Amino acid sequence: MREKLGVFGGIRGIRIFRLFGIFRKFRGFGKFRKFRKLRKLRKLRKLRKLRKFRLFRVWTIAKANHTSQLSVLNSQFVKSSIIIIFIMSDRGHFGSKLGIVLATAGSAVGLGNIWRFPYMTGHNGGAAFLMVYLVCIFLLGVPGIISEFIVGRHGAANAARSYGSLTKHKSWRLVGYLGILTSTIILGFYAVVAGWCLQYLFASLMGQLQGDAAYVQQYFSEFSSHPLKPCLWAVAFILLTHFVVVRGIRNGIERASKLLMPILLILLVIIVIASCLLPGAVKGVEFLLMPDFSKLSGSVFLEALGQAFFSLSLGTACLCTYASYFNPQTHLARSAVEIALLDTFIAVLAGLMIFPAAFSVGVTPDAGPSLIFITLPNVFHQAFSAVPVVGYVISVMFYALLVFAALTSTISMHEIGTAFFHEELHAPRKRAAWVLTVVCSVIAVICSLSMGACPSLRLLGLDILDFCDKLTAQYMLPTGAFLTCLFVGWVVPRHIVRQEYTNGGTLSGTFYRAYLLAVRYVCPFAIFMVFLHQLGIL
Ligand code: TRP
Repeated sequence: MREKLGVFGGIRGIRIFRLFGIFRKFRGFGKFRKFRKLRKLRKLRKLRKLRKFRLFRVWTIAKANHTSQLSVLNSQFVKSSIIIIFIMSDRGHFGSKLGIVLATAGSAVGLGNIWRFPYMTGHNGGAAFLMVYLVCIFLLGVPGIISEFIVGRHGAANAARSYGSLTKHKSWRLVGYLGILTSTIILGFYAVVAGWCLQYLFASLMGQLQGDAAYVQQYFSEFSSHPLKPCLWAVAFILLTHFVVVRGIRNGIERASKLLMPILLILLVIIVIASCLLPGAVKGVEFLLMPDFSKLSGSVFLEALGQAFFSLSLGTACLCTYASYFNPQTHLARSAVEIALLDTFIAVLAGLMIFPAAFSVGVTPDAGPSLIFITLPNVFHQAFSAVPVVGYVISVMFYALLVFAALTSTISMHEIGTAFFHEELHAPRKRAAWVLTVVCSVIAVICSLSMGACPSLRLLGLDILDFCDKLTAQYMLPTGAFLTCLFVGWVVPRHIVRQEYTNGGTLSGTFYRAYLLAVRYVCPFAIFMVFLHQLGIL
């Protein structure tokens, strides 16, 4: 199908026609005669009325950027072509295949892998949790990612509009709204932890993290309960994200990911080697890799499910938004598997970095969210006390790594809301980004204050950060993923799913049937069962 469109010299006009639901009527797109017919279609006229105001802008964009492409078109079609160009110009695209994988993997790899995964694993008994987690990633996560990719690339718009454009039932837009809401809340509390990382990077550079266990513990509790400092670091982090996001897709997000992801991987491997060489490190490796199934319980399943979705950035339309910038040639299923593998690999590496070191110095791995902030400085200090410079370098590297990982993820969360406000409120991208920055900063400040400075700020007995974390990871993300699977499995016309999966028939569609089975039955059923279990019904 896409080849036929080549007549437009690479213009991805197809997206518009799909966007307005007239794709099927338009198979002969390559021929101008039929193209003229298209203009008669009511939907397009309606579109023009609707977007009169934006069309004006189109003219200018078209004149400025696309003269060469315009020249290939017959003059009588120019008017219609402008609409095409307008929609295309309005959205960015990733520049390369590597950029796509790295940016999406950059979204997936973050504090979820390096901060959340180790403390969840430590808290839920080690290797047994890891096993359940792996099942969740590959059985539920991969089909979930492919589904979001399908919705996103086909819709080629912000999350809400993408969901709405694939069906007549506009209520499915709500899934997109849910995703945007979830990612905004996540960005709020995530930025608090990312802010701690920034502060720790600064502190380790200044050599302030050197001291015994009691000192490090006190350092963390004093810092995290300070009324101002953590709030400022969190807001600083959101601003940092903001400035990458406003630079757009190719210059901002893609370039940052291409630079940061490889650095992250190299740093991680160095620290894993250092950690595994410590005396007594084997116990930590055993803790992570030798399962004790007696530790499995219902809540382990729910936490593993939440962690898997959180770590893959699934269930908030984040991947859907990124997929809207994909190229028509992107192999969706393969990219999904690559991302899941890379994400899991990094989570396991993070486990191999933390547990051997923690066991080596006799620290218990179930300290909760503060694990990497309390135990690790201590580990670095004790483990490398013979050569203090190594300890210093490793700890600076570690916190730099955390900041990089967090940044590529916060960028993706920010992008969901920015794309939404930009396209739905017709606000310039910069202003749209500011709206999100302000909202998230408010959430971040509330979360941060409830961690100590205002202990009365609590919900259901949890501090706000913990509350937001549980609410989103255990309820909102699985709900989003559940609905997305139902949507793609049962609501979206089958030929669209197939066409996206196989890139319009150009790919063989290996595992297509298995994917359909997973997305229609296995994923919704499994997520539903975990929910029932949590509610005590099962
Ligand atoms: N997956 C990221 C991590 O592991 C966090 C993240 C980025 C995320 N975007 C998201 C989580 C969207 C949920 C939804 O750190």
